[in-house]
Amino acid sequence: TEFDVEVVFEVALKAVKDAGEIIKEAFYKKKSVLTKSCDVDLVTETDQAVEKMLIGRIKENFPNHMFIGEESVAAGENCDLTNDPTWIVDPVDGTMNFVHSFPHSCIALAVLYNKDVHIGIIYNPILDQMYTAKCNQGAFLNDKPIRVSEETDLSKSLVIAEFGTNRDPQKMESVLKNITALMNKVHGLRAMGSAALNMASVAAGGADCYFEFGIHVWDIAAGALIIKEAGGVCLDTEGGPLDLMSRRMICASSEKLALQIIPLLDQLKLERD
Ligand code: IPD
Repeated sequence: TEFDVEVVFEVALKAVKDAGEIIKEAFYKKKSVLTKSCDVDLVTETDQAVEKMLIGRIKENFPNHMFIGEESVAAGENCDLTNDPTWIVDPVDGTMNFVHSFPHSCIALAVLYNKDVHIGIIYNPILDQMYTAKCNQGAFLNDKPIRVSEETDLSKSLVIAEFGTNRDPQKMESVLKNITALMNKVHGLRAMGSAALNMASVAAGGADCYFEFGIHVWDIAAGALIIKEAGGVCLDTEGGPLDLMSRRMICASSEKLALQIIPLLDQLKLERD
């Protein structure tokens, strides 16, 4: 067959574990940090090294597969999603955390075929948390099945929002509007600094909902499958089906919960990936 999910998964899992070693090795050392779109949008040698290693691994094993990577796109590569098998990679999600040695960073890897996510892997090598999912085969944390929470009441929910890494005044104002609108309606609000790990937390039932405007496809593709396989939902912030390239997303333990948050959100307009 053209696309054997088991074969691709084995290669992807091994590559992610090896990427974890690169991140672990660099984690408590001094990092050389460069900025991208603004002074809080960061990239390190580790982001670039991990991405380079993963690209090499794909070329070696699946020369016909396509690749979309955060640092390749930052370096000018295109971000077009086709029907071909496509690996979508965030080599270090939570780069700001990584730079500060705050142990909440991960590798996020998704493999898509016909634009559907067939494999999702999110790995925090510092805390040794490996989240995995294959389409229609459930979601796992370190090989144990995970499930979203059963909370459906917004007032009892732990909701994750993010500040993001953008200093555009309109974006910052929108973030604050959403936080203000939710603060007195939820059980608690959190911002941990990694979109992929936020999604993994919702999948594992540790948080009930997470939304963000301004994320990219590499931040959310792996998590979208892991959440779905864990029984949760991943939607567009206006309530329709999720569009991976739309730069906005809400995920929750249930649609019922997501629909209580959606009307409270400021629907910021963003340029697509
Ligand atoms: C960022 C993190 C952060 C989120 C930003 C992302 P990066 O990814 O996931 O939590 O708020 O929107 O860009 O740059 O560390 O890969």
